[in-house]
Parts: sequence; structure tokens; C-alpha cells
Amino acid sequence: MSADAGAGGATARGDGATARAGDAAGGGTGGAPFQVGLLGHGTVGGAFAKLLEERADEIERFNGRRPVISGVLTRTRGDFQEILAGADLLVELMGGIEPAREHLLTAMRAGKDVVSANKQLLSQHGEELFETAREHGVRLRFEAAVAGAVPVVRVLEESLSATPIERIHGIVNGTTNFILTEMTAGASYAEALAQAQRSGYAEADPSDDVSGRDAAAKMAILARLAFGTPVHLDDVHYEGIEHLHRDDMQYARELGLGLKLIGTAERLEGGVSVRVYPAFLYGGHPLASVLGPFNAVTLESEAITEITLSGPGAGGRQTANAVLGDVVSVMTGGARPPAPPLALPLIEDVASAFYLHLDVADHPGVLAGVTRALGEQDVSIKSVVQRGLGENARLVMVTHPVLESSMRVAVEQIGTFDFVRSPPRFIRVIEEEFV
Ligand SMILES: NC(=O)c1ccc[n+]([C@@H]2O[C@H](COP(=O)([O-])OP(=O)(O)OC[C@H]3O[C@@H](n4cnc5c(N)ncnc54)[C@H](OP(=O)(O)O)[C@@H]3O)[C@@H](O)[C@H]2O)c1
Repeated sequence: MSADAGAGGATARGDGATARAGDAAGGGTGGAPFQVGLLGHGTVGGAFAKLLEERADEIERFNGRRPVISGVLTRTRGDFQEILAGADLLVELMGGIEPAREHLLTAMRAGKDVVSANKQLLSQHGEELFETAREHGVRLRFEAAVAGAVPVVRVLEESLSATPIERIHGIVNGTTNFILTEMTAGASYAEALAQAQRSGYAEADPSDDVSGRDAAAKMAILARLAFGTPVHLDDVHYEGIEHLHRDDMQYARELGLGLKLIGTAERLEGGVSVRVYPAFLYGGHPLASVLGPFNAVTLESEAITEITLSGPGAGGRQTANAVLGDVVSVMTGGARPPAPPLALPLIEDVASAFYLHLDVADHPGVLAGVTRALGEQDVSIKSVVQRGLGENARLVMVTHPVLESSMRVAVEQIGTFDFVRSPPRFIRVIEEEFV
């Protein structure tokens, strides 16, 4: 915990107000202000400064110290060393790797608690940051780095701290969930992306979102938290949504499936697997009903079956709310420095059910050829839909779970058959349902 910024009782406002509601209730107002140094004053930083001011009375009422912004750093104003010297805690809302990394390390080495919403930094330099926090006995809070306003970090660290999490499925990128929701309603990928940009849900350059990289960073952080083992962004296999066809979504609907960009982190055979890719869900999965720019995370364990948390995944004010929650958690002593890491191996090849889409010429023996190629790799078929006739037939099937490496071999072989008219497409299917 950081040093108290001087005992005494003067408030920074200097308004002499001493008789607030909390006094009568024994809330202990009158402690020195809790000085928050703010690095970054953009979408989230600006909203955070405003929210902190709005909520300062209430926060002071229940924990006796009034949070105040003691300094702000942007590209054009503020001096980092001065802000650091005057702060009890630093909030980093700059984004990017440098100088955010160096500032957080410097602050922690100086014994200051820190809060950050920076998923790229935490997913690429998390171990260095956690190690520094541990070494200096300070808190490093990062609720807003994972699923915006959805309080999954706190739930994993506190409510479920005695629950061995076996699997996490998350919709942790609101932009792609918005695009896929539009595509399910009939839009093409290009139309849905343009709509997301017009509505302010996608950046002018959406590549981090649509490639799955943003979701991969968040899943690396979540996996580290749930399983206690270091997971770097580079350890997460990710695929994006750019290559999806709207007809896949239409065929899948006939099979009772809906498409989402899903991040999965799971404990398998003594190791962990973390991955992000488009996946079909059956209607009974809690994530199937998450629409538009929302985020949701399903936490699974034998002890709890599953718990799903959902809410806004971004937005200045919503994200700022999660950041302020972290600040209050530090003020009230509710958070601990990070625990030392475990070392669990990463598992690359995992089993999944698959949706397979084939454009074929409808000749005798086509289905037999396809099922033979699948059977040779132990891929068994759960359901098939056939559409069209003659040279324009389509075979759409869902398999039972099989190792991805086996599925890839089978699909490669099917792609060589002369009756297959375009490269086969396959998409993972998540089979669990909880209803
Ligand atoms: N936006 C969201 O909805 C959202 C949701 C979840 C998490 N986050 C995370 O929150 C963080 C902030 O995002 P944002 O959308 O608020 O970003 P933003 O609007 O671009 O604001 C960034 C702020 O940091 C300052 N800054 C950037 N580089 C700097 C440097 N080298 N030195 C000093 N100041 C610097 C900028 O200064 P200037 O004002 O001078 O440009 C600006 O004030 C990121 O890590 C992001 O991933 C954002």
C-alpha cells in the first residue's frame, strides 16, 4: 500500500466543509485527499477525471478520503516526475507500449500503486509488470483492460478465488460482435463494417479488432488471471472475421447455430490453451444471445457450472467506471499485489466440433468421398445439409469433436478432390449448452 499523503485532515478543495453525511454516519471523513496522478486524458482519461469528480463525495463518505486528480500528463501538458512525486496512485490511460510501460515500472519501483486499462501493454509485458508489483509490494489493477465495464477481473480474483476455473469463453471485442450481429441479419462483411464505423463502434483502421488481435490480448490477460500462468499475446492463436461469408451464417442458422468471435482459455491435460476465432454456438449457450457491441464472459468450473457476466465492452464513461472501481479498490485496501506465477505448458492442438462448407459438383459418390476422407482422420459427422443441384451443390456439415490437426488433414485432402469447386471452409463449433 502506498504511503498516506500526510495525516491531518485538510482537504484539497480548501472549502472548509467538514460536516458531510458520512460524518454523522461515522464514515470517518476528513482524511487527507487521496492523490490520483492521471497519465492520459483522452476518451477514457477525460471521462475518468469527470467521473471521479462526480463520485468524490460518495467515495469520501465510505472510506474517509476524498480522491482528487493531482496531476495530468498528455503529450502537451504535465511533467511525469512531478505527477509521480505528488501522487498516492497513478492511473495510466495513455495506451501503447512506451512510455506507458516505463512510467508504470517507475511508479511501482517508487512504491506507488497503479491502475491501467492498457491491454496491449499487459498482454506483452505483463510478467515484468506483475514481477515489479510483487517485488515492491504494490497493487497493479487492470479491470478495464479486459472487458471494458464488465467486472470479470474482480470476480475472478475475489468472488471465485477459491474456484478452480476450467474454461473461459468470452466475447471480448464489441466491434466484431456488432459486425457479426449485422451479418446475421443479412449484411455482407463490408456493409457491416461500414455500419460499425458510422455508429462509432469501429475505428477508421479496424485491423486490431477484426483480425482478433485485440481479443487475443484480452484473453492472454484473462488466462493469466484464471490459471496463474504467464500467457503472452504471442502464445494466443488468433483468427479474425474478415474471411467470413454471410451464406455460412445462413446455413448455420438452419443447423441452429449463431456465429461469434470467441476467445477461449482452458485448462487441458495439465496445460493451458488460449485461442481466439470465429465459432458457432448453439442457442443454449449463454454467449449466443449477446448482441451488438456488448461483451460477455462465461466462467466455467465444476463447482459453479457456469457464471456469465455481460455489459458494455467499451465507451469512455463505461470504461472509466471500471477504472474508478480499481482506484476505490486500492483506496479501501481490497486488492493484493500479484501472486508468483505457475508454469503450465501451452497446448496447441485442441479438440473441437467443426462446421464444414463445401461447394461441390453434385455427382454420384461425392458424399461418399467426403465422408471417407473425414473418416480416415476419425472425423465423424453429426449433421449434414445439402443445397442446390448440378454444378452448384453445397454440402454443409457439422462434425463431432476432433483434434484440429486431424480436421486440417481431412480438409486438405477434400480440397484436392476434382468435384470440390472452391477451397473448403471450416469454422469451429462450441458444443456446450447450459439450458
Ligand atoms: N476507448 C475505449 O473505449 C477503451 C476501452 C477499454 C480500454 N481502453 C484503453 O484505455 C487506454 C486509453 O484509451 P483512449 O481511447 O482513452 O485513448 P486516447 O483517446 O487516444 O487518449 C490517449 C491519451 O493519452 C495521451 N498520450 C498518448 N501518448 C502519450 C505520450 N507519449 N505522452 C503523453 N501522453 C500521451 C494522449 O495525449 P494527447 O491528449 O496529448 O493526445 C491522450 O490524452 C488504452 O490503453 C485503451 O486500450 C479504451
